[in-house]
Amino acid sequence: MKVTKSEFIISAVRPEQYPADGLPEVALAGRSNVGKSSLINRMINRKNLARTSSTPGKTQQLNYYRINDDLYFVDFPGYGFAKVSKSLRQAFGEMIETYLTQREPLKLVLQMVDLRHPPSKDDLMMHEWLKHYNLPLCVVGTKADKIPRTRREKHIKVIKQELGIGSGDLFIPFSSEEGLGREELWTVISRYTGV
Ligand code: GTP
Ligand code: MG
Repeated sequence: MKVTKSEFIISAVRPEQYPADGLPEVALAGRSNVGKSSLINRMINRKNLARTSSTPGKTQQLNYYRINDDLYFVDFPGYGFAKVSKSLRQAFGEMIETYLTQREPLKLVLQMVDLRHPPSKDDLMMHEWLKHYNLPLCVVGTKADKIPRTRREKHIKVIKQELGIGSGDLFIPFSSEEGLGREELWTVISRYTGV
């Protein structure tokens, strides 16, 4: 997909603020710091449209980015971030749960896991939850560039095994740094959004 236009639309804290134009939405879920915002920037080849940070927990709303007037990327707050209060965490959780179970334009969820480590408890819970609700899902293994090429397959295998990802499921190794996985991910997104 050739991206000719991409713009930040809104940091939504309430469903009334979600766009009403019905364009397909691709949501990005994953732990804080896993590379959600960086993936958006790489997909649209912009350095800093989606705010990235080495301080986890930066993204605390649903951030909408519109691409080519065709679809939205919806950047979620990272889960498993301990430094916000429990009640705040709960509020995020509810907002995301409502979004994931009721949002009609949602066409695909990208669950992002750090390729360097086995999935965390939060990753496993999130994965089970997404499967339970039968959401269209693609798991993305981030920061592939941080693993020597010869060891990548081994890491991929561990993650697939622990999440129970089979040959019929979608899994894409990704690097926002190098662009690995970008074309493959656009192909998947096109298939699910019809764009
Ligand atoms: P929250 O908004 O806090 O949930 O984090 P996030 O998931 O949006 O992570 P973000 O994209 O801000 O990236 C976190 C850190 O990891 C930043 O310092 C990025 O530069 C770095 N990073 C993200 N993706 C990659 C990658 O593919 N390779 C490398 N080497 N670093 C990455
Ligand atoms: Mg972010």
